[in-house]
Amino acid sequence: MLKISNINYSVEGRPLFEEATATIPTGHKVGLIGRNGAGKTTLFKLIRGELVLEGGSITLPSRARIGGVAQEVPSNDVSLIDTVLAADKERAALMAEAETATDPHRIAEVQTRLSDIDAWSAEARAASILKGLGFDQPDQLKPCSAYSGGWRMRVALAAVLFSQPDYLLLDEPTNYLDLEGALWLENYLVKYPHTVLIISHDRELLNRSVGAILHLDDRKLAYYTGTYDQFAAQRAAQRAVQAPPQRNRNCTAPICKVLSTGSRPRPARPNRRRAG
Ligand SMILES: Nc1ncnc2c1ncn2[C@@H]1O[C@H](COP(=O)(O)OP(=O)(O)O)[C@@H](O)[C@H]1O
Ligand SMILES: [Mg+2]
Repeated sequence: MLKISNINYSVEGRPLFEEATATIPTGHKVGLIGRNGAGKTTLFKLIRGELVLEGGSITLPSRARIGGVAQEVPSNDVSLIDTVLAADKERAALMAEAETATDPHRIAEVQTRLSDIDAWSAEARAASILKGLGFDQPDQLKPCSAYSGGWRMRVALAAVLFSQPDYLLLDEPTNYLDLEGALWLENYLVKYPHTVLIISHDRELLNRSVGAILHLDDRKLAYYTGTYDQFAAQRAAQRAVQAPPQRNRNCTAPICKVLSTGSRPRPARPNRRRAG
């Protein structure tokens, strides 16, 4: 599990987190939401250890691998498929060793491990991820340098998905995906075998791909189990209870506010609605 305990962090004297606490159980798919500038991307950097907390702690299982798309893949002459395959560092190292090892015991060990990690199906898996993100078979053999920054972000996303980290951190991935790619990612995340944290304003994606919402609000974190719509309904109920009575002039009971924000008809795609 990922345990965020009483964290404090500020940027240029402005606190983004004050005694914020949340626990994310292993394997959960979680949408991280909050208004722009609240500190969502900063929280990812704190989880990755790229920034140092001013107080509190963030703990993960000791050998957990954290993965995210920090930036686009480099514009070099390595093919897309090889770039993605190289993201599984253990497999890449074992494949290299298999070519050069001379000790029969070590060769046997390497082959066993390659078989354990399903190394032989790796190319098919990498190809299927790239395909889902919009690269057909001939594209996959082209060098990264043939693509612009936005497309190289997709390759970076493919690489991190392929490497299957224990904690997959995705920061607004639909910014560089088209609708087809976003839909493919939604389905992929549902089946992803480990913990996922995704920052997104896309309500449809949050409703389909995650089972919990981590809400960054007023420098605190709150964890809600359920889809985005369930979260929104709970928040509306909380606000209705907290609202002063004179604000609900048209409404005799606080519950009216909940009913009025409850289940409106959903617009058809592609009018993807913003969450937050
Ligand atoms: N490198 C930086 N230098 C100065 N301010 C920053 C820097 N990075 C982030 N901030 C500020 O920190 C706040 C939180 O940023 P961020 O974590 O990116 O928010 P979010 O991802 O929720 O939109 C913002 O107000 C932003 O302006
Ligand atoms: Mg951000």
